[in-house]
Amino acid sequence: MVARPPVAIVVDRMTVDDLTQVQEIERESFTTPWPPHAYRSELESNRLAHYLVARYGDRVVGFAGVWLMVDEAHVTTFAVRRSWRRQGVGERLLIALLELAEARGASEATLEVRPSNRPARLLYEKYGFGLVGVRPRYYTDDNEDALIMTTAALDGRLMRERLARLRAEVAKRPEIELGADGLPIGRPAEIETAGSQADDGGRAIEPNVLRPSNVRKSS
Ligand SMILES: CC(C)(COP(=O)(O)OP(=O)(O)OC[C@H]1O[C@@H](n2cnc3c(N)ncnc32)[C@H](O)[C@@H]1OP(=O)(O)O)[C@@H](O)C(=O)NCCC(=O)NCCS
Repeated sequence: MVARPPVAIVVDRMTVDDLTQVQEIERESFTTPWPPHAYRSELESNRLAHYLVARYGDRVVGFAGVWLMVDEAHVTTFAVRRSWRRQGVGERLLIALLELAEARGASEATLEVRPSNRPARLLYEKYGFGLVGVRPRYYTDDNEDALIMTTAALDGRLMRERLARLRAEVAKRPEIELGADGLPIGRPAEIETAGSQADDGGRAIEPNVLRPSNVRKSS
């Protein structure tokens, strides 16, 4: 088999033209995927919402969303195509999301994650999210609690230095090499996440249920 040339991942705004591919990633990532209309409504009608995609050429390989509410950035969704995991796509998306949040005046970023979702927790910890609370039985499919994780001040020295260091590390990573099948060569995520149809990272509820009054941090 002949390997293809390395490719660059580009992080970009999500558009409605991306939604078919976003839905594919949803279905393989979450046990309770948002329905197709949810993203369309987020893109077209929610002024608080900002959604990004990671692209390889015209292929969407990951996406992330955030609601910017007053001075808080609330991460609403985050997923990487299964065959593209462990290649730094999630990191690129998270860096872009945090940069966007800070540029738009958010003082901190917050999110919910399942205690059982080790890959996501490790990613968020790497980027400075720390545990601040628990939402009991948050996930409606299995009643798992949600951990609430929040960053330090986005414009503070700690977060700025952390992001600068991680941004530099990501920039130094070799470009992703694809095999003849068009998929990244060597995918450790396949090993760690094998066995489950959907890893179910994080959201039990649709975005139209996730209203600002529902997403305040618990004490
Ligand atoms: C969580 C997720 C987005 C990570 O995306 P990814 O592109 O594979 O992540 P990256 O390659 O950028 O990894 C960055 C860091 O995340 C952590 N990480 C990601 N996957 C991991 C895994 N399988 N095991 C252990 N750590 C992992 C590590 O800290 C890693 O840093 P390292 O390479 O220095 O060890 C991806 O696993 C996913 O889509 N999961 C299903 C959906 C989901 O859980 N979404 C989160 C909702 S809260």
